[in-house]
Amino acid sequence: MSPLTRRTLIAGGIASAGVTVLAPTTANAISYPFTLGVASGEPAADGFVIWTRLAPSPLNADGLGGMTSASVTVEWQVSTDQRFTQVVRSGTATASQTWAHSVHVEVTGLLPGREYFYRFRAAGHISPVGRGVTSPAVGTSPSLTMLFTSCSHFEAGYFTAYRRMAEENPHLILHLGDYIYEGAASTTAVRKHSPTVEISNLADYRVRHAQYKTDVDLQAAHAAAPWLVVWDDHEVENNYADLVRGNTSPAGDFKVRRAAAYKAYYEHMPLRAAQAPVAENMQLYRRVRWGSLATFHMLDTRQYRDDQACGDGTKVCADASDPARTLTGTAQETWLLDGMRQKLGTWDFLGQQVFFAQRLASADGAKSMDSWDGYTANRDRLQRGWDSAGLRNTVVLTGDVHKSWASNLMLNYSTQDRIIGTELVTTSVSSGGDGNATDNGVSSLNPHVKFNKNLRGYVRTVTSPTQVNVDFRFLDRVTTRDYPIRTLKSYVIQAGNPGLQAP
Ligand SMILES: [Fe+2]
Repeated sequence: MSPLTRRTLIAGGIASAGVTVLAPTTANAISYPFTLGVASGEPAADGFVIWTRLAPSPLNADGLGGMTSASVTVEWQVSTDQRFTQVVRSGTATASQTWAHSVHVEVTGLLPGREYFYRFRAAGHISPVGRGVTSPAVGTSPSLTMLFTSCSHFEAGYFTAYRRMAEENPHLILHLGDYIYEGAASTTAVRKHSPTVEISNLADYRVRHAQYKTDVDLQAAHAAAPWLVVWDDHEVENNYADLVRGNTSPAGDFKVRRAAAYKAYYEHMPLRAAQAPVAENMQLYRRVRWGSLATFHMLDTRQYRDDQACGDGTKVCADASDPARTLTGTAQETWLLDGMRQKLGTWDFLGQQVFFAQRLASADGAKSMDSWDGYTANRDRLQRGWDSAGLRNTVVLTGDVHKSWASNLMLNYSTQDRIIGTELVTTSVSSGGDGNATDNGVSSLNPHVKFNKNLRGYVRTVTSPTQVNVDFRFLDRVTTRDYPIRTLKSYVIQAGNPGLQAP
């Protein structure tokens, strides 16, 4: 695959306009509508989703982006080259106000394991160029460079991590939740949320998503590679559980609020039509194969969970291990184990939200009840399920906690009997602000937890049939723009030998 330069990302759309048929037409009443960039996602062996949303005035308070109720025809092209001299697929989609003039095109008919470029045209304007990548054919296992991150708080810092991710030219990017934050604007942050209130209706969720999408670093990361996204809590409300809200304000019907939040999330993400929400429900958990190398099981640990045990804090209580309580919901638990037992690829990556390994916060056993420690029977059933199926290459990918961690997953955490998998926890893009390079809190209470770092960034994995090379990538600051990225910890995970090894 050829390297994609920053110049291409920024200039490609307009610069190549004269080369092919997708030239600007006579300008009409809509001013430049591609203010939110472009994105690809959901790679398959024969295609991927390409996304954009028409929004000439993205922060308009009505959430409609400056568009009228009229539907608009959006043309799209997919090419093997960045100048669109070799267009291999093209078509049109309709952007309607029902979906905030977003389009989600499911491109098919492409070749496996290839790099492509795409762009849109609407109302006489041409979009920036994005890069899509198809997954390799089943039966093949070429090396995969995948980056994953989580927790991008617009006010807490700049999105430099997204810029650095784009520069790595990966095959795939995972975002594991807290893509936006729902809170009201701060008066002391480096940037200010729009709207300034805590968002709770459809117009406000749309404006907040649009504001995040106007960030040029975020746009660069979306344009650089296909993404697989799953939400955590802040895409709706802090620490909600199914239809149990996390706090009491703002007042209102939480079903209506969740429906609005899920709809705005779908409108702004490169997801397939199968993920389009129906009222307050959205089918987000799904499986994506990467040839015979890996399977991504993307989980939803918010929509179906029982309420957090003993409140949302760190108190210890018997409810946390009640076998009747669930984080995934029964259907998703069954779906996950059934899928893993099919052994579709060498590696099983579980892309999910909250801390998976046991993590005692103090000698009296305090744990986070929002994480898997609050649902230990559910965790135990999954771990025993994949272990008894003979699976040795399970890697859990996690977000949420705004610090990086690396752990061995144990069949029994109390006795430390047997490593049966590995967990890699990404830090945040910006949540938590600059962090502290000397804050490295591994505790003897958790001997299976090997690494912790409180800086912002992401994790890079390079996966082959024999091993996963893991690099924890960090920025020293995010409250100042444009810091360089550097690796501060690396591990190897060997196929057939679960757990973290020195590189
Ligand atoms: Fe977060």
